[in-house]
Amino acid sequence: MKTILKTEHLNKTYRLGSFPRNVDIQALKDVNITIESDEPVIVSVVGESGSGKTTLAKVILRLVEPTAGKAIIYDQPIAGEGAKPARADFLSMVQPIFQNPFEAFSRYRTIDSYLYETATRVKRLNKARAIEAMEEVLSSVGLEYKDVRGKYPNQFSGGELQRISVARALIPNPNILVADEPVSMIDASRRMIIINLFRSLKQEYQTSILYITHDLATAYYISDYIVVMNKGSIVEFGKARQVLSDPQHAYTRLLLSSIPTLKQKWERVRND
Ligand SMILES: Nc1ncnc2c1ncn2[C@@H]1O[C@H](COP(=O)(O)OP(=O)(O)O)[C@@H](O)[C@H]1O
Ligand SMILES: [Mg+2]
Repeated sequence: MKTILKTEHLNKTYRLGSFPRNVDIQALKDVNITIESDEPVIVSVVGESGSGKTTLAKVILRLVEPTAGKAIIYDQPIAGEGAKPARADFLSMVQPIFQNPFEAFSRYRTIDSYLYETATRVKRLNKARAIEAMEEVLSSVGLEYKDVRGKYPNQFSGGELQRISVARALIPNPNILVADEPVSMIDASRRMIIINLFRSLKQEYQTSILYITHDLATAYYISDYIVVMNKGSIVEFGKARQVLSDPQHAYTRLLLSSIPTLKQKWERVRND
């Protein structure tokens, strides 16, 4: 079994202001998650705004250094105490998908230049191989290279741009994609395209996905595991079905009761 994701006593405190008026904000409080599996998994992290979800994502993406504790991805310590892979190796293990696809790309650069850069710099492919890789990942997200080539971000919808972000993240063939609220800036009618894409990519690329969201409905729909966070702590963690059908924590029950029809809807989907 592989340790797909493990955090041990992960803590992050942000310090605001300076002495004597400083305030400490504990964004992560002793976060312990262990997910072991031979198959790739989709792990959803749910919780209200301010519960520490983005901080957890940033620690795993190495954008934020934890105050204490450590994180392991695919058997490798990547944050906190212990060995860390070099940056290039790290980027081929963990790739981000950000909330706002419009901010991910400069309006003055063609979209394909981003994919090309990832293919040549991170994956170190030559030109011909880079183009092949671009064709492949774009077709995996339902787009064609010839329709993307030479175009600028404003020529695409938010949903298309987010699919291109996903395509770019796939180029290094990462072990895990970290997607922080990836559909919240996208037209409601297009969100399921991205969500379903995650499900198919898990199989096609054997990639695990850390899906961070405040939207329980989509979390239940695609997750193998669910982590529920509240005020920096994990209040519930387990297999998705288990967490939904038998929530142990009052906060999880409260989240569930706020969407009364979700449970039936989700069961229908899972039984399809
Ligand atoms: N760079 C930062 N500096 C100070 N406080 C921060 C910073 N980033 C997040 N926080 C605080 O940490 C807490 C958790 O935030 P965050 O991880 O963004 O939660 P979520 O993504 O669940 O909304 C919040 O109280 C937030 O205000
Ligand atoms: Mg956030």
